[in-house]
Amino acid sequence: MRHGVVAVVAALMLGAAASFVATTAFAASDAGAQRGRIVANANACMGCHAVDRKLVGPSFQQIAAKYKGDAQAQAKLARKVKEGGSGVWGMIPMPAHQSMSDADIRAVVDWVLAGAPSK
Ligand code: HEC
Repeated sequence: MRHGVVAVVAALMLGAAASFVATTAFAASDAGAQRGRIVANANACMGCHAVDRKLVGPSFQQIAAKYKGDAQAQAKLARKVKEGGSGVWGMIPMPAHQSMSDADIRAVVDWVLAGAPSK
């Protein structure tokens, strides 16, 4: 009897683990890009940036074009988002985002470098 309960609990846990893995795999294949867009919306990036036109900062498509083929772009731009800075596009500074996680910054920079796709 006791044995049966343990088996049922184990089966339930296995099921939960399997569906967790399935969800995670789906999120990853649905493109990290989606996550980047969500991160951008959640961190007020869109207050200063638009996908296809200059606002306070350059458009994400301009940024993607500028760094196309630059192997250092991901690292360079991740540091810029985290620490802020100015002088690349003009005198207006990009603010620092110290509280963002490195994973979120990586996702949003990947999305920007991909040309900020809507899907
Ligand atoms: C207060 C306005 C503002 C906000 C908010 C802002 N940016 Fe910027 N961003 C700028 C400006 C201005 C520049 C141009 C900086 C320069 O000329 O070096 C810039 C530049 C950039 C660049 C290009 C950097 C380079 O060196 O070429 C990236 C990438 C970027 N922003 C991403 C983001 C992301 C992602 C967020 C949200 C986490 C964000 N920005 C939020 C104003 C902003």
